[in-house]
Amino acid sequence: MSDVLRAFGKGIWFADGATVSYYGFDYPTRMVLIQLSEGQLFVWSPIALSGKLQRDIAALGTVSFLVSPNRLHHLFLQEWKAAYPRALAYASPGLRNKRPDIVFDGELGDLPESAWAPDIDQVVVGGSPLTEVEFFHHPSRTVIFADLIQNFQPDCFKGWRAIVARLDGICAPNPGAPREWRLLFYNRRIARSAMRRILTWPIERVLVAHGEPILLDGKTFLRRAFKWLLGPETGSRTPNAGGQVRHGPLANCRRDFDR
Ligand SMILES: [Fe+2]
Repeated sequence: MSDVLRAFGKGIWFADGATVSYYGFDYPTRMVLIQLSEGQLFVWSPIALSGKLQRDIAALGTVSFLVSPNRLHHLFLQEWKAAYPRALAYASPGLRNKRPDIVFDGELGDLPESAWAPDIDQVVVGGSPLTEVEFFHHPSRTVIFADLIQNFQPDCFKGWRAIVARLDGICAPNPGAPREWRLLFYNRRIARSAMRRILTWPIERVLVAHGEPILLDGKTFLRRAFKWLLGPETGSRTPNAGGQVRHGPLANCRRDFDR
């Protein structure tokens, strides 16, 4: 169901939008909404803005920040800026050159803006043309990834697309970045350093733009998803690491989200 805000934890929601075409694949879109301690709303990777979504958001507060985590998640920024002209828009590194038509108020870096720093931390994962900014929401212990982890259910695509997706390493139970993207990391030292900083966060849950959220033992999930980058030796395993990482269809997750 699209345009529906789903609670993911204290002060954090997500909503799924329509699919967009990407090299012959229908990619689902997802945004994350965070209500900061001071009440402002922080919108990550905005999806197409419907009237229903606007009404639901209005009930939660005022949209103050619009954030694009990478150079691919910018498609609906302009319409959100038009709808919320007082919101500040932040570009991921490189996006200003790609979208000169959008007036950005700032560029995302390794330090969170003071307005959201009490609630959200962030890290730039560089070292490739696919620079992406990852965020961590402290109250819900949720880390948010755009494209560097894709966690589709195996039946999400049909026919040859299903085969390509599985071989590309973007499907459960072995999700991650698309394999051809992994080859584009020309400076893995930079990317590894960013990932190691991410792994210092007390992560429990993982939200991704494409695929199933992770509800438990998120740090173990990340170490597995980035084994191609970190290697098998990185980090110690958590007490639950010997067990299965818990994830599943969104419908099954709702009980956990609503607690
Ligand atoms: Fe994406």
